[in-house]
Amino acid sequence: MRGFSHRSRMKQMGYRQEDFTGRPVIAIINTWSEINTCHAHLRERAEAVKKGVWQAGGFPVEIPAFSITETYMKPSPMLYRNLLAMETEENLRSLPVDGAVLMGGCDKTTPGLLMGAISMNLPAIYLPAGPMLRGNWKGQPLGSGTDLFKFWTERCAGTISEEEWNEMEGGIARSPGFCMTMGTAATMTALAEALGMTLPGASSIPAPDSNHVRMAMNCGRRIIEMVWDDLKPRTILTMEAFENAIAVDMAIGGSTNAIIHLVALARRCGLDLPLSRFDEISERVPVLANIRPSGKFLMEDMYYAGGLPALMAEMKDLLHLECLTVNGKTLGANLKGAAINNAEVIRHRDNPLFASGGTVTLYGNLAPDGAVIKTSAAEPHLLQHTGPAIVFKSYDDMEARINRDDLDVTPDSVLVLQNAGPLGGPGMPEWGNLPIPKKLLGSGLRDMVRISDARMSGTAYGTCVLHVSPESFIGGPLALVRDGDMITLDVKKRGLNVLISDAEMAERQAAWIAPAPKYSRGYGALYSERVTQAHEGCDFDFLEKTGETPEPEIH
Ligand code: FES
Repeated sequence: MRGFSHRSRMKQMGYRQEDFTGRPVIAIINTWSEINTCHAHLRERAEAVKKGVWQAGGFPVEIPAFSITETYMKPSPMLYRNLLAMETEENLRSLPVDGAVLMGGCDKTTPGLLMGAISMNLPAIYLPAGPMLRGNWKGQPLGSGTDLFKFWTERCAGTISEEEWNEMEGGIARSPGFCMTMGTAATMTALAEALGMTLPGASSIPAPDSNHVRMAMNCGRRIIEMVWDDLKPRTILTMEAFENAIAVDMAIGGSTNAIIHLVALARRCGLDLPLSRFDEISERVPVLANIRPSGKFLMEDMYYAGGLPALMAEMKDLLHLECLTVNGKTLGANLKGAAINNAEVIRHRDNPLFASGGTVTLYGNLAPDGAVIKTSAAEPHLLQHTGPAIVFKSYDDMEARINRDDLDVTPDSVLVLQNAGPLGGPGMPEWGNLPIPKKLLGSGLRDMVRISDARMSGTAYGTCVLHVSPESFIGGPLALVRDGDMITLDVKKRGLNVLISDAEMAERQAAWIAPAPKYSRGYGALYSERVTQAHEGCDFDFLEKTGETPEPEIH
């Protein structure tokens, strides 16, 4: 009776029995949405995937999934990454499918889709949406986010007119695709490739390029072979694969957000990835990608320069080449023949952009469980700095006071933002690159030390210490900092400390009053109860487990 029911519903769609009988059923998990402009082309690409699936003897079914859009989602898209992961996992579990092509790209969609696929552990391949084309304003290339931040500072300083600002608005996002700077989207799709979860070179192809269509078709063809070979994510995602991803993250000057996502992905595989591991790898990996915000070029340039395979080939000795990838070959085999076409965009090893990694982790009495800083996007002279704190209790407090003439701020001040972490934000918003106070902008100052438990857009830059853990909302030491406290950032020693005595710290801790929870019902309440801290990946504690979930019965 159940078979009748399933077959009759296939026939309802106009299929013949031979169209589906005996064929692997492939779920195309599509995060297309009209409000997620980064994914505007994913409906067309799903059709290309379907062609590939049909050609290889499979049966495709397109399944929509939560389209987490970085631009529009409030209070922070990070609040919803785990919801997409749950939706992906349960779609793949509850529906009669044999394998999946996962379509995403805008920041949180890559980790969300992969986390769900790892936990379900069906054969799966990741199809990155691809970066958009370079922006353009008066003949100069504009980069998503990075140039918005840069020119907004100029606009605030009065050096850009209203008319010019409006012109830029029409030139910075010219095509479908995700942000074409080395933001979180470009970083996470590159790391999906470094992990072995995409076809070789897939992450660098610009979204509108016809090669992107062919890559989509190839995903459709390949997933059928993966199903017959029973090649599953947890077979590919070993500790060595994660070490490759960390090394590539450093070499591309990747977004700080990648640290949180990689920790969460690894934990889904039952692997512990302490922050110290990022630091060890960072020390031996140079930054080779000359892409904004750390460098000069954009993702379209990176593609023409050889893309991620060329970059990985240049750092072969720093990678585990024996790692398996979704095409059934090793990373080493996939990199054969890859070469740099433009050594200005992808640097050779003897001429790196920076000699060592783009991101480092910090510890100290201000961050007992760690914090991160993207040194490649910071002013070098601020990486060793001591200055007095100016504390903002919340984003609203910061917004109300940051540009006041009576703010007691100097270039040496350290701007501190509290209550912007996983629970405090909530959802750990990208508030970590606090604006430079207007009072100082006129003098030409463009960077200061800023500290928060928030995240920062991967497209942003500045000396911003982020992800301070534990967060202030749950009484972490950041909650105890007061105006005028001297704070030392010492990147060389990996230190972040507030210069007060342990006794003073204990006294302030005893007097600290916990704020009321942000949610009393709904998804927000579930999130508040179960989300972990930044150094643990901000996953839900009950999703981290690797134990098998039983295959549902069909009655
Ligand atoms: Fe989608 Fe930047 S807004 S990747």
